[in-house]
Amino acid sequence: MLFDVVTIFPQLLASPLQEGILRRALAAGRIDVRLHNLRDYALDRHKMTDDRPFGGGEGMVMKPEPLAACLDDIQGESPGHVLLLSPRGQTYDQRQAERLAGYERLILVCGRYEGVDERFTELYVDEEISIGDYILTGGELAALVLIDSITRLLPGVLGCSESAANDTFSHGLLKHPQYTRPRVFANLEVPAELLSGNHAEISAYRFVQSVRLTMERRPELLAGVTFTAGERKILARAGLLDEVQPLLKI
Ligand SMILES: C[S@@+](CC[C@H](N)C(=O)[O-])C[C@H]1O[C@@H](n2cnc3c(N)ncnc32)[C@H](O)[C@@H]1O
Repeated sequence: MLFDVVTIFPQLLASPLQEGILRRALAAGRIDVRLHNLRDYALDRHKMTDDRPFGGGEGMVMKPEPLAACLDDIQGESPGHVLLLSPRGQTYDQRQAERLAGYERLILVCGRYEGVDERFTELYVDEEISIGDYILTGGELAALVLIDSITRLLPGVLGCSESAANDTFSHGLLKHPQYTRPRVFANLEVPAELLSGNHAEISAYRFVQSVRLTMERRPELLAGVTFTAGERKILARAGLLDEVQPLLKI
């Protein structure tokens, strides 16, 4: 999968791409990330990419011409799906990550200052994406959030193919608590169910913990979950079914 990032600060993205899973995915050719310095497309000798807003007001606005020239240049090779990182966009979540992982090429445009000229958005942008209801200084960190979360969903990127499938959100539930050695830490023992060696018991225990945690922390997520007959039985045995029932859609 190819990610193009359009930014006035390409160096901001360089270091996170050189570590861990992203570095491995790049080295293995599972992803390619091309950083495009918007200043290279500025029209004047001062390499200006922003200007004052018409109508007055605080801050600066990113000019449309360098953005358009950059997009024309990189889209010329092969078309990509263009995303503008923007707090006004649709809120990003795991479902969006799964959907966007289906594209061959994503072009991520990073805003700065007060944002970008609306005419560029109208003409070039397929979707505006927000990573949450807060304001960042620029779209670069948001672009990295998308690249990171999408890359780990691509086939062959994670060492263990199970890990993405069982993540928090992938089944609409928060992930169960995890434990590793030692068996006792600061007088706290690993739950006995996890030491039983009985796979069915372990998976039922983890499932109940997932549901419990989701009820406590993110009950609204349960509206999107459907339990199988087997899962309902497990919840009934744990005494949770009556409590969880009103939170489900049906
Ligand atoms: C300081 S922000 C501009 C905020 C703008 N004045 C507003 O109120 O909507 C500068 C840039 O950071 C990026 N940005 C800020 N918050 C973001 C968020 N929550 N999600 C995605 N991008 C964000 C966008 O690219 C935005 O153009």
